[in-house]
Order: sequence, then structure tokens, then C-alpha cells
Amino acid sequence: MKKIAVLTSGGDAPGMNAAVRAVVRYGVRHGLEVIGVRRGYSGLIDGDFVKLEYKDVAGITEKGGTILRTSRCEEFKTEEGRELAAKQIKKHGIEGLVVIGGEGSLTGAHLLYEEHKIPVVGIPATIDNDIGLTDMCIGVDTCLNTVMDAVQKLKDTASSHERAFIVEVMGRHSGYIALMAGLVTGAEAIIVPEIPVDYSQLADRILEERRRGKINSIIIVAEGAASAYTVARHLEYRIGYETRITILGHVQRGGSPTASDRRLALSMGVEAVDALLDGEVDVMIALQGNKLVRVPIMEALSTKKTIDKKLYEIAYMLS
Ligand code: F6P
Repeated sequence: MKKIAVLTSGGDAPGMNAAVRAVVRYGVRHGLEVIGVRRGYSGLIDGDFVKLEYKDVAGITEKGGTILRTSRCEEFKTEEGRELAAKQIKKHGIEGLVVIGGEGSLTGAHLLYEEHKIPVVGIPATIDNDIGLTDMCIGVDTCLNTVMDAVQKLKDTASSHERAFIVEVMGRHSGYIALMAGLVTGAEAIIVPEIPVDYSQLADRILEERRRGKINSIIIVAEGAASAYTVARHLEYRIGYETRITILGHVQRGGSPTASDRRLALSMGVEAVDALLDGEVDVMIALQGNKLVRVPIMEALSTKKTIDKKLYEIAYMLS
């Protein structure tokens, strides 16, 4: 194998740059030519390629976002789009492709292998942490630290005004961010798509906490479960005092990656190149326990990640 390519795709996640750096440097050290594909699958279809040398990825580990840029490419979801992408890969003599991204991006990588036999290796990177068979995805830890910091700040003002704050976090289909953020900030309530919510019970609980002397209330809701406005509408008339809404939005996807995300991304990048050099294709690098393993992409995608119900109960018990 002489030439490989790397791309980042879908929603960006802090740590993507560290993964790109590892792929480039580890690849170059193994005598490979490494091509960076700009703008994810859109760039793959357009042939928006750039040769990346060792020095080109200097100083990017600490940068948020992705220097390669990214996209959510509708065209690549079609067979025609993937055929165009495969033609570009073949035309440029690329023998292996590392795809760094979330569920949609990894599905695309798998199809590229299935339909055109392009050797692909996936690296899970999404703040949602909703990919099966891996304990952790790149970007999750940084995102959680951002949410934790924001909620701590909201608690200051919530206490001063004795208000209830409803904080909406990301997570289209997954309550992972909400659960973990709720646990580490001691939120009164955590609303996730995986577990139905009873608003009267929730209101009773908040009122009970007040009676016990608590002067602020934090309710964390995952965007996939309900909007913060809906939650406020359900709660305000039941609890009878002021609520405020904060939607954290895309701030959760930015920022310099934490040490933990950098470490995960760098080691997954190295493992992805090793997998290609070993001739393993259509696999995703996954963290299981403390070990990196290679799992079939389709197996990871078809394994539904469930919410940790025990942790959910613990978060309630400790709040
Ligand atoms: O990447 C995952 C994610 O951040 C989700 O949590 C969120 O719903 C979505 O992406 C937002 O996507 P976009 O940036 O395209 O609006």
C-alpha cells in the first residue's frame, strides 16, 4: 500500500484534528503518501484533494473543528454520488480511506466498500456518543466539559434568583450528553429520548426539593426528547415560579479538545492506519474497556446503544 486518504464528515467533533494528525504522521512514517480530502464526502465526489506532509499537521491537535472541513453530503447518499466518489478514489490511485465521523458518515464508508470495494476504515467521532460497540467516540469528553461548565455558571444565577433553569443539550436520538451532564452537575431532572417523562411527577419533585431548602433547579433536556420550551410550558404552571431557558446549541461542538479526547483521537488514528496496513477493511476502530479493537462497521451501526438506566437512577438519587 502506497497511498491513503483521510476525511472528516458529518457534524464536527473536538479531536477530529488530532485523529487527522495521527493518520498523516503515522502514515508518512510508514512510507505512505497521505491525501487529505476537504469537505467530507462532498470533496470526495469533487476530487477536492490535498497532499498532506508531516509538517502540514503541526499544531492542529489542540484546535477545535476540523482543518479538513466537513459536510453533510446529500449526493453521497445516492448510488450515483458514491460511484462518482469511487471513481475519484481510483483515478487518484488511493488504496485506502480513513473516514472520521458519526453514524451517517460510517454508513457511507461501509457502502463505499460494499458497492465499490474501496478499502475503508472508520473512526467514530460524534459528540452524541451514539455509535454501537464503542464505549466512547471522539469529541464526547470535550462536549461534556463544555456543558458542565455552562451548567455550573447557570447554577450561580439560578440560585441568586431562586429560579428553575431548563437547559437543552444536543443529542438527536440519544440522551447520553443529557444524562452525563445531569449526573456530573447534580441536576434535579434529566429528560432523555429513551425514557418517558411524567411532568407532574417532575414538578412534585422540584417542589419537594424547594421545601427541603434548595434554591435553584436545573433540568437538563436532550433535544431529541423535547424542546426546552415544551418542558417549560409543562412545568411553569405546575411549579408556580419563574423558569428560564438556555439552549446550548453548537457551542457544544466547539473548543480545544480535552486531554482525554486528544489521546483517544491520536490512538484511534494510529490504529486506523495499522488496520489498513494489515489489510483489514470495512472495520471501525472502537474503544472497549481500555483497549482499541477493530469491529465490522455494519456490526457497530446495527448495535443499538442503550442508555445506562442504572446511571440514570443514580443521577436522580444523588441530585
Ligand atoms: O453531530 C451531532 C449533532 O451535534 C447532534 O447532536 C445535533 O442534533 C446535530 O449534530 C446538529 O447538526 P447540524 O450542525 O447539522 O445542525
